[in-house]
Amino acid sequence: MSGGTDAYPGSIFSLTDHEVYVVTARDGERDSGQIATWIMPATLVPDRPRVAVVISSQNFTHSLLAVSGRFVLNLLSDEQHALLPLFGLYSSREVDKFADMQVQRSPEGMIVLPDTCGWAECRIVSQLDLGDRIIYVADVTAQEIFPGRRPLRKKEAFALQTPEVRARLEEKHRTDGARDRVFMKQFTR
Ligand SMILES: Cc1cc2nc3c(=O)[nH]c(=O)nc-3n(C[C@H](O)[C@H](O)[C@H](O)COP(=O)(O)O)c2cc1C
Repeated sequence: MSGGTDAYPGSIFSLTDHEVYVVTARDGERDSGQIATWIMPATLVPDRPRVAVVISSQNFTHSLLAVSGRFVLNLLSDEQHALLPLFGLYSSREVDKFADMQVQRSPEGMIVLPDTCGWAECRIVSQLDLGDRIIYVADVTAQEIFPGRRPLRKKEAFALQTPEVRARLEEKHRTDGARDRVFMKQFTR
């Protein structure tokens, strides 16, 4: 796999391979969804599930989840690699990403995608603004697993795209990184 998919080519982080999610959010009647991979559990307390999610403040999906304080994590299955360009290349500012999809709703009314490995509805409880990205910590308020499916991972998702789509995804990674430099906060201590 080329270094174009890695945040930091040549580093230990290029050895990692994250699961691919679609984060959905809703504010009023407006829905949005975006691909995200920087997501992890944030507690060992089994009956208080909590996650940390890193989201760009430039994304339309972010504008909805920041206002509503809620989002849904849809864990894509390895058969859903075709959703990568729709949810990862384009913005809901320009396209209705759910136009051709039979979706359901979580208890709080956010979109739940079909055919995934499962979903978790989350309520934001804390956040750390890094300028270019915001780290959200959120409690899981409802969830469902669909057994028998394997999670999609980033490297395989890129490898399964056409060369043209892969090149566009890699180019967006580069241009988003260049864009984000000016927003990034400096911290001294
Ligand atoms: C493989 C992959 C992983 C991504 N991971 C994240 C992520 O963890 N956080 C994030 O904010 N954006 C991530 N993105 C970028 C967004 O999905 C992308 O900017 C999207 O077009 C935003 O759509 P929106 O404007 O409709 O919210 C990722 C994109 C891809 C292709």
